[in-house]
Amino acid sequence: MASDTLTIVDNRTGKKYEVPIVDGTIRATDLRQIKNGADDFGLMTYDPAFMNTAACRSAITFIDGDKGILEYRGYPIEQLAEKSTYLETSFLLLTGELPSKKELDEWVWNITHHTIINENLKGLLDAFRYNAHPMGKLISTVAALGTFYPEAKNIFDPAIREKQIHRLIAKMITIAAFGYRRMLGMPYAYPDNDLSYPGNFLNMMFRATEVKYEPNPVLEHALDVLFILHADHEQNCSTNAMRAVGSSHVEPYAAVAAAAAALYGPLHGGANEEVIRMLSEIGSSKNIPAFIQRVKSGEGVKLMGFGHRVYKNYDPRAKIIKRVAYEVFEVTGKSPLLDIALELEKIALEDEYFVKRKLYPNVDFYSGLIYQAMKFPMDMFPVLFAIPRVSGWLAQWQEMLQDPDQKIARPRQIFVGPERRDFVPIDKR
Ligand code: ACO
Repeated sequence: MASDTLTIVDNRTGKKYEVPIVDGTIRATDLRQIKNGADDFGLMTYDPAFMNTAACRSAITFIDGDKGILEYRGYPIEQLAEKSTYLETSFLLLTGELPSKKELDEWVWNITHHTIINENLKGLLDAFRYNAHPMGKLISTVAALGTFYPEAKNIFDPAIREKQIHRLIAKMITIAAFGYRRMLGMPYAYPDNDLSYPGNFLNMMFRATEVKYEPNPVLEHALDVLFILHADHEQNCSTNAMRAVGSSHVEPYAAVAAAAAALYGPLHGGANEEVIRMLSEIGSSKNIPAFIQRVKSGEGVKLMGFGHRVYKNYDPRAKIIKRVAYEVFEVTGKSPLLDIALELEKIALEDEYFVKRKLYPNVDFYSGLIYQAMKFPMDMFPVLFAIPRVSGWLAQWQEMLQDPDQKIARPRQIFVGPERRDFVPIDKR
């Protein structure tokens, strides 16, 4: 009779153990009973970078990396990108269900009416050097935002939690846009409650002297789709940071700032910026073979926007983004880097090095080209990623807080340092 257990024989002691298998996993703590003597701490697993460790049970986002599937709460990303809006998708991520008309109206009203930031925060933004990276400003400003809402510490009060969720989603676009305008020395443009979430962001970014800013509908829609695609991606580096920091029960602004800091890195949210740099460096299609050769030679050059820890197939988001790119270029004119990107993709997808390693374009390969065409400076790219990812971070944070299995995140280590030794006075060293 098959049983859902794993039998382990410890060849050090000859002892046999049986541990349950639930959902295709064994509990790491079940291994602790496996000891090599009375003083032994018990068997642990060694899994740097969590390559094969589930750290939570989650009902939010499903990914099948081999098949290239991404679903939020069961809904395929392709359908959400085509039929939903970012704010509707954020409601779905946070509550588990698509909203009714009334729920959606309320949700949108609440987000729209929380976009203004306290005027004191402008003082903080003004304090940054003119060329401060927008992501550094975003991280600090979000952390500072929490100081305006001391009640946010009551993370187990659902109503207070919901209020902070409204505030965080709403104010991300204001903080991001104000940071940008400060960089240019332009006066801050305030939110306009008549506009959609992406439209309002474009308004706060780009409004000049017009009394009423009217976003281009194609660009507004493209941004909305990009926001949907970036809203969550299960246990990635920044979400893991959100959960780990949130597990100390800190208020959500500090945890979002930590998650945003994780997103800042070039291997995560900074990759689309790196893609543009790489394409500009390549400069022309004729230089592609030499560039590919450098990547393959193992001198540490990576084809940015390619490869993914989870997707070993075409990233489903990259497919949608590629389509959106063409819609945007109809309005903005084609990016001169597009031809290089297309040619690079074609060559890489046929090259044995990339085929063997299952390296396909990821979400960042084309998103940068769209942002650039929409006149966002490269420094803003990770910010554009962080804006919608706040919904995912908050959904994951909330799920973590309500999960009785969760405790403060605290991994173990294998200590490889020196054994106990006595302190040596400085004149004897
Ligand atoms: N270019 C060239 N070679 C690559 C690339 C790449 N972009 N990505 C992976 N490889 C190679 C690795 O060198 C490794 O080769 P080896 O087996 O000969 O040592 C093999 O493919 C496996 O790659 P790993 O680094 O082990 O894969 P991992 O899951 O650790 O890394 C990551 C995933 C970080 C995304 C990686 O593919 C990468 O650095 N890509 C470029 C940066 C990028 O586009 N990041 C965005 C990711 S999507 C996101 O965060 C939204």
